[in-house]
Amino acid sequence: MPADFNQITVPQFTAMKGDGRKITMLTAYDYSQASLVDAAGVEGILIGDSLSMVVQGHSTTLPVTLEEMIYHAEMVGRAVRRALLVVDMPFPSFHLGIYKAIENAGRILKETRCQAVKLEGGAEQAEVIEALVSAGIPVMAHCGLRPQSIHQMGGYRVQTDEKQLLADARAAEQSGAFSLVLECIPAEIAAKITQMVKIPTIGIGAGAECDGQILVFHDLLGLNTGYVPRHAKAYADLKSTITQAVATYRDEVRAGKFPAKDNSF
Ligand code: KIV
Repeated sequence: MPADFNQITVPQFTAMKGDGRKITMLTAYDYSQASLVDAAGVEGILIGDSLSMVVQGHSTTLPVTLEEMIYHAEMVGRAVRRALLVVDMPFPSFHLGIYKAIENAGRILKETRCQAVKLEGGAEQAEVIEALVSAGIPVMAHCGLRPQSIHQMGGYRVQTDEKQLLADARAAEQSGAFSLVLECIPAEIAAKITQMVKIPTIGIGAGAECDGQILVFHDLLGLNTGYVPRHAKAYADLKSTITQAVATYRDEVRAGKFPAKDNSF
């Protein structure tokens, strides 16, 4: 790692729970987004398979490929100096046996500057998590609403089966995951899990008691052109800003105001 990099490591990320410091994570998908997000000082950046929806325009996260995840992770990796970098393992890159899961996760670590992978699943992925961790690949598990299982779950619904959620969280921790995303589960269950496990919980639609929070870049910045989930908070309205700027440019070109003398040689 070049000397000017002072990147947060997996053990440092995990230790934040013990120190009682809230963890902030955001997704990013390219060089310029990641530069801005990293400079703003979040502790973790996820190259999420949500890129299938917010970047590629698909209606689910299922179509994005491993090659495409690696392509975007490379861009993000070139920009980031400080945040821990995590890449989502896309469907079905970890469902084809342990050998294939290690090969695919290994490619992510070899070909990008990312430090860890995230995969959807708890108890049913325990063996895979354990194998990846044994291979030296840090794993962030993802329980609750698992968008890759959208067809099985029957929609983007809050997951309320407390017994299953606790069992998944326990299995993820016991298998060696260094952290756990909790997506769209009741706040009380997320609080219970957060108290139960020693690894940090990162919530999205899982209440304020999680050890950290994650949001999708486009949701936080008001860039989402489609469905905006209830758990997302827009801290800016960049959609309006961008549309307005482009319309002003169009009007100025049509009116002969742009380029002005200052923009000419
Ligand atoms: O793909 C993604 O962006 C995610 C986060 C919403 C946790 O999995």
